[in-house]
Amino acid sequence: MILVVGATGDLGGRVARQLRLEGQDVRCLVRQRSDDTGLRELGMEVVRGDLTEPASLKAACQGVDTVIATATAIGRRLAGTSPATIRAVDEQGMSSLVDVAEAAGVRRFVYMSFAGADEVIGTPLDRAKLAIERRLTSSAMQTVIVRSDAFQEVHLAPMARFDMAAGKAAVIGKGDTKRRWVATDDVAALLSAVALEPDPPVLIEVGGPESLTKNEAIAFAEELIHHKMKVRHMPRPIARLAIRLLNRRNDALSSLFGAGLLGDLREATWDDKPLRQRGINPKPARDFLREQARELT
Ligand SMILES: NC(=O)c1ccc[n+]([C@@H]2O[C@H](COP(=O)([O-])OP(=O)(O)OC[C@H]3O[C@@H](n4cnc5c(N)ncnc54)[C@H](OP(=O)(O)O)[C@@H]3O)[C@@H](O)[C@H]2O)c1
Repeated sequence: MILVVGATGDLGGRVARQLRLEGQDVRCLVRQRSDDTGLRELGMEVVRGDLTEPASLKAACQGVDTVIATATAIGRRLAGTSPATIRAVDEQGMSSLVDVAEAAGVRRFVYMSFAGADEVIGTPLDRAKLAIERRLTSSAMQTVIVRSDAFQEVHLAPMARFDMAAGKAAVIGKGDTKRRWVATDDVAALLSAVALEPDPPVLIEVGGPESLTKNEAIAFAEELIHHKMKVRHMPRPIARLAIRLLNRRNDALSSLFGAGLLGDLREATWDDKPLRQRGINPKPARDFLREQARELT
């Protein structure tokens, strides 16, 4: 039995569906009020629970061989639909899940982190990811930490102020650091693969096939939409200040700025090898932008 924690989310949903379509027994931990229809329709078992309620995690972990944890509060916090903080969910809640999984005899724990997580920017999400990575490496369970570069569907999209329809983009820092934006589907395929393969590595850092700066991505988008985009720049010192000021008042926005700043500071030393080695043919960032441009017409 594989337990997916975060299956009502974008990445977690793709992972759960893929494993189910491969014939795996999949159980999902789903919050009380979240819609589980799609998961049940595919024959997945649903256990109601919440990372912030440790007692609810026991039943979810019972009889489980592998846990895949993709849950995060950041998206729900940005949307204003979660009162629980990143610290409460991503750090304390995830730590409870590791404890409960260990006690329940779970063999393997696959944890979704982000590439460059060891570069400390000091956001609530950084702290949570590093704390859980540390906790897992001292765990008795076989651990697989997947650190991926930013998702194309999030960071080359309006949510992260890369808006081809509106002709607007935001750049944190200089925008000339090489990135490897990766397709969410490719990361989902990777997580599904490492949940099942016999001897996965403890740490995987991964990105998409193309090495591209934010400025290059904007220039390419401009070619596709046949006009200049209005680009707003946030210098690195301002981003650092905003991150610090927002830390307590808006943990999600602070973490989002942190992800943007990290992408400007840390050149991708990872690549798409972990995907190709597993037979995944990763989508280049330019192909994603082409698709977005086609949808506009
Ligand atoms: N976006 C990127 O560029 C990027 C890059 C690298 C790594 N990552 C990592 O990839 C993952 C993103 O996953 P995603 O796209 O599936 O996120 P998502 O769409 O925002 O979904 C978040 C999931 O977490 C669940 N969740 C939130 N609070 C919870 C709680 N208290 N208890 C239990 N579950 C809770 C949500 O459940 P509800 O539906 O009930 O709210 C949902 O299933 C995260 O771990 C993120 O850090 C993202």
